Amino acid sequence: MQEVTTYIQNNKDKFIEELKDFLRIQSISTLPEHKEAINTAAEFVARKLKAAGISRVNIFKTEGHPIVYGEWLGAPGKPTVLIYGHYDVQPVDPIELWDHPPFDPLVKDGKIFARGATDDKGQLYMHIKSVEAYFKTAGSLPLNVKFLIEGEEEIGSENLEKFINDNTELLKCNSVLISDTELYEAGVPTLTYGLRGMSYMEVELTGPSQDLHSGSFGGAVANPINVLADMISKLHDKNGRITIPHFYNNVIRITKREKENYKRLKFSDKKLARELGVNELYGEKGFTTLERLWARPTLDCNGIFGGFTGKGAKTIIPSMATAKISMRLVPNQDPKRIAKEFTKYIKKLAPNSVKVVVRELHCAYPVLTPLDGKAAIAASKAMEKAFGKKTVYVRDGGSIPIVTVFTKKLKVPTVLMGMGLNSENLHSPNEHFSLNHFILGIISSAWFLQEYSA
Ligand code: BES
Ligand code: MN
Ligand code: MN
Repeated sequence: MQEVTTYIQNNKDKFIEELKDFLRIQSISTLPEHKEAINTAAEFVARKLKAAGISRVNIFKTEGHPIVYGEWLGAPGKPTVLIYGHYDVQPVDPIELWDHPPFDPLVKDGKIFARGATDDKGQLYMHIKSVEAYFKTAGSLPLNVKFLIEGEEEIGSENLEKFINDNTELLKCNSVLISDTELYEAGVPTLTYGLRGMSYMEVELTGPSQDLHSGSFGGAVANPINVLADMISKLHDKNGRITIPHFYNNVIRITKREKENYKRLKFSDKKLARELGVNELYGEKGFTTLERLWARPTLDCNGIFGGFTGKGAKTIIPSMATAKISMRLVPNQDPKRIAKEFTKYIKKLAPNSVKVVVRELHCAYPVLTPLDGKAAIAASKAMEKAFGKKTVYVRDGGSIPIVTVFTKKLKVPTVLMGMGLNSENLHSPNEHFSLNHFILGIISSAWFLQEYSA
């Protein structure tokens, strides 16, 4: 291992230059005009896997974006770990709020700035480089490794789910390792054992068959925007609880042990409020902030549009109003059932004066992973060796839709060994990744392969 870590330290600059090449590729999965960049990113990953020493590498076409698969099975009798990550990124808008162009990676103050730096190109690249370090020093890996890198995570991983269903034999492994989550704090090794799920909905209200002069008709017909705002406000009660019937039915309670663990992680509401630029935090009454973020479901309006939104004033009763509403779910809420309950309740809330259409955009199951498995223990030890500190155990508020498919179809535990920070602007302007965590992540990955092989 000494040789492996020395190789990593000596090749830092080379690794960063390569990551920059990866970050230049504009692989935004949701925008059709970026299809070519998506293919370029898949090819980049495949090429780097081969160069690192992974023998069998394949790009699998799907109905959507390609999946990169690679394997090295040269350690018979040893366990097999499947490393998952995503090469697709979020759109860059609002582009005017970036201090530097999103696809022109910039190293500044020990961070690398670019779209995808922390989510997830920088994090997935750590594992390719730890594998390279083994092949370049020891000439082999201490266990068997499979890589599964997709390009549709940010749009719900639909085609990857099909791919897994059709290829369970190919993907057979003892555990899944993912770096696509966050450290609790800079420099603190963190194992994430929970993710929230999601139901993403769209509500469209239609009033009059076209926009109307609000002088001629205001007072005679319902305004769909007014109605929508009223309906949205009814989705929470005054204690911040969601009012959809049966919504909380399957929410598992936070155990005493977990509550105590949350309390031990020192957390300051004031500090977070300051960082986020708000006067005070907000949320469901009766729970601490960490509890609300990690173990309680939420409902949020992501966008609302309709009527006149240009500069100046225009007097109309709009014909339509639309809201995009997502719910973050926790075990054991079922996103499909929640979507149905939401739809039923929205239809009930809508007055007869408007027509309502509800659409389900996508969903993800919430996740709790075991902490007592061999892979989780290996990851915890590996990070302790790399960081020189004790690992903390957290849940996270985000979602990774494919994790439950690994659990259900491959029937193996997933280990979430993320190296991002919630302050690194994922999905937002000036996304960046700490280069210190990038290198510590490569070393943690190398230690993981060592620890898990034993
Ligand atoms: N890497 C994130 C998930 C994440 C974010 C985990 C923050 C932990 C903390 C992932 O790329 C992501 O953005 N997921 C989406 C999923 C959605 C598109 C179904 C999310 O959470 O919004
Ligand atoms: Mn991600
Ligand atoms: Mn993301």
